[in-house]
Amino acid sequence: MESNIKALDDYPQEWHKNIWPPFTQLSSSKPPQRITKADGALLFTENGEPLIDAISSWWVTLHGHSNKYIAKAIYEQAKQLEQVIFADFTHPQAERLAHRLSKLTGLQKLFFSDNGSTAVEVAIKLAFQWWYNQGEQRHHIIAFEDAYHGDTFGAMAVGERNLFTAPFEKMLFPVSRAPWPTTWWGKKDIEEREAEAIKKLEILLQRPTAAVILEPLVQGAGGMKMVRPEFLQAVQNTISKCKTLLIADEVMVGFARTGSLFASKRSNIFPDLICLSKGLTGGCLPMGVTMASEKIFDGFLGDKPEKTFWHGHSFTANPLGCAAANASLDLLEKDPKAYEDFESKHLKHLKELSKHPIIKKVRLTGTIAAFEIETNTEDGYMNIVGKTLKAYAMQNNVFIRPLGNVVYLLPPLCISDSQLKHCYQVIKSGLDQI
Ligand SMILES: Cc1ncc(COP(=O)(O)O)c(C=O)c1O
Repeated sequence: MESNIKALDDYPQEWHKNIWPPFTQLSSSKPPQRITKADGALLFTENGEPLIDAISSWWVTLHGHSNKYIAKAIYEQAKQLEQVIFADFTHPQAERLAHRLSKLTGLQKLFFSDNGSTAVEVAIKLAFQWWYNQGEQRHHIIAFEDAYHGDTFGAMAVGERNLFTAPFEKMLFPVSRAPWPTTWWGKKDIEEREAEAIKKLEILLQRPTAAVILEPLVQGAGGMKMVRPEFLQAVQNTISKCKTLLIADEVMVGFARTGSLFASKRSNIFPDLICLSKGLTGGCLPMGVTMASEKIFDGFLGDKPEKTFWHGHSFTANPLGCAAANASLDLLEKDPKAYEDFESKHLKHLKELSKHPIIKKVRLTGTIAAFEIETNTEDGYMNIVGKTLKAYAMQNNVFIRPLGNVVYLLPPLCISDSQLKHCYQVIKSGLDQI
């Protein structure tokens, strides 16, 4: 990736007339590049120009694009069994995946769905119905400030209310919100901030509460906001006193992103429910799962029909998705060093970059490195400085997608040292020009 880097100056002039893209205001955005091929950490535009995918294509691509081992597993499975109704049948790939994820998470039961939002919907519904099945009406749920849990209604309800959820505000169920004591290099008063957050949580928990939901270690869309494992352990201790369930939304952080297979594991917390998606299939196919403890599962057994969890999706446990997920787990098992040592890959570059005069709040957890750009306008998602840096990076063959003035790198595990170095060099020279 070093020398023959050319500017991407051949953007399409018009949007495709039939496509409605996600998270995009068409009247103020440029039509996107067309990607026709991808390999490892690289995306290729149709004229063959390489782009380093420094954010794993919305945090999904785990081992790298077009991974041959996963592709073969999908191909072999497609020849054997491509889809079957999971309410009446099971199949070997689903059984194998359920067994493996149960062993790895310590939660005995696995409920399949389609994506991150549905994995969260399932967890919320399971939590509410579990209490209902106990004959105890608990409708109160606690989430954290700046959380993001997806775009379906239940997931929106537990996420932070903002510009994105405003049109739906009246239809979202009420949620109490506790502070998220985010930390970064050199942060001084973190113990006090954590203690204040726990105090607020204790007050909120005076109301009987069905569940507390959180993104362990790193809040993603909220701005790559990181907390210490100590805080998560304190949350766990606090809620366990009132029998409230703990839901860990590991849709982004699951599957090695935090340097451990699961962020709950790295934090030494033991959730009742864990939501997984994105890296589950190595990022190759859409699939979500909600892991549940035996205690939750048992609460749904019985003769009364209303005890049943009446929820399911057409593609529940799709065999191709399960085959991809099993293949991805094989790769993780084969080479744990690929993620355990990732922090050190970032560290040398991030330390250097942290000296830059316009950056602040530098932080790093596993494969995720983030910092904020100091500007003279308000921090946050609507700050346009990230767009300027993104455009500069694209011209220099690096794809990033800052969240306002929050810049982050979340590359696939296969990124080479020289590719990662190039990402940091481009960011640095972009910052020099801001
Ligand atoms: C923590 C978290 N939960 C849930 C979701 C929703 O996942 P999906 O986009 O697959 O619906 C996301 C997506 O970014 C996420 O980061």
